[in-house]
Amino acid sequence: MLQPGKGKKPHIAYTASIAYDRRLYRQDIAGSVAHARMLARQGIIGEKDAELIVMGLAAIRQEIEQGEFPWREELEDLHMNIEARLHQQIGEAAGRLHTARSRNDQVATDVRLYAKEVAAETLRRLRALQGALLDQAEAHRATLLPGYTHLQRAQPVLLAHHLLAYFHMLERDAGRFRQAHTSADVLPLGIGALAGVPYPLDREFVARELGFSRISGNSMDAVSDRDFLLDYQHAAAVCMMHLSRLAEELVLWSSEEFGFIRLADAYTTGSSIMPQKRNPDFAELARGRTGRVYGHLLGLLTVLKGLPLTYNRDLQEDKEGFFDTVDTLLGTLGVFEGMVRTLEVRRERMARAAEGGLLLATDLADYLVRKGVPFRQAHGVLAELSRYAEGQGKGLRDLSLEEYRRFSPLFQEDVFQVTAQAAVAARDVPGGTAPRQVEMALQAARQALAQGQAQDPLP
Ligand code: ARG
Repeated sequence: MLQPGKGKKPHIAYTASIAYDRRLYRQDIAGSVAHARMLARQGIIGEKDAELIVMGLAAIRQEIEQGEFPWREELEDLHMNIEARLHQQIGEAAGRLHTARSRNDQVATDVRLYAKEVAAETLRRLRALQGALLDQAEAHRATLLPGYTHLQRAQPVLLAHHLLAYFHMLERDAGRFRQAHTSADVLPLGIGALAGVPYPLDREFVARELGFSRISGNSMDAVSDRDFLLDYQHAAAVCMMHLSRLAEELVLWSSEEFGFIRLADAYTTGSSIMPQKRNPDFAELARGRTGRVYGHLLGLLTVLKGLPLTYNRDLQEDKEGFFDTVDTLLGTLGVFEGMVRTLEVRRERMARAAEGGLLLATDLADYLVRKGVPFRQAHGVLAELSRYAEGQGKGLRDLSLEEYRRFSPLFQEDVFQVTAQAAVAARDVPGGTAPRQVEMALQAARQALAQGQAQDPLP
């Protein structure tokens, strides 16, 4: 067995992970407690020793939580720190805890426990953000705004419809985090260093104690598998990508150029020199931090790609990036919930933008189609009309009937019934932006959210 703390090594700082893996102390202690109990139940260690171990670990946990634990870098990692401290506290019995165990199955267990917890917590925050989006969507079931393609005003849509697009992205993200939870939900403990252990263990008992749904199969795979972290990090990268897109829209919309929304003071910062500024720093930082989350995914993929079976110390590099991803994502989700909830929509500005300019060109082409003109030809008429209106410095809605008729005699008084409202109402196909469809979509989203929340894993 390894002798904690024996023999100083000159470059210990290089191999030490204690600065960051101490974050896993709760999981590590829980794993040790379950392992000790199982060893005693199986008659592998004595009941008295197990009791001492469990009590000692509880005391250590308290020490850590009170900030009184004497962390020692020369002991390299969390596992050695705790075991050494246990020796100091309960003496010889501590030496029995590591029976039928290796740091390899131990650390894999710790990280899986942690990944399960954060996957559940991520889902909880994701649902809260979905709820905020849905509340805003419901409040804006009648608010019009321009929909864009190529960041050019394209066709009017309902703000509810626009916000529901993000709800749907997050719904898919939720599915990925559930999957990440499922892949983490496998117990490696009990396979030892790589090959299994020569003791009659009850691995199922340990799995139940720790809340794992199943135990690992192949021992060699289990000590070196970090796919579950890739699953979480992939889900996180996609989710940050979605949040970054939303961030980008919030930045644009809150600019003077768009003027569609006003972000609450809590989510803007002033400039040290320009007193009028209300900078959307939170949205910008979220957009910027997406990069590091992508980076950690690629980092871990790269760590894993050249590893022969089974455990290699490279695997210690699985943690820092993962922790940073977790912190970044959880923080971002929390901020976005508040930012979305508190943003103020400037309805009239949005509506004016949805009515103005050339936004109704497609609908005017459809108007001609309804009068029998082939769509391609109607498209051509509207292209000319749009050019003309632009030349006059007018929007399509500002032209007179006489001007319309210069381009096609089929235009009549009812051309003025082509409004943004009418354009939206006309898009009455499943998945479209018509109020009737959006109403159904809102209801479906509410239901999906409630159902999702009921089925998500608990933190
Ligand atoms: N700190 C190590 C890690 O995070 C713990 C496992 C070390 N195991 C070993 N055989 N050196 O991977």
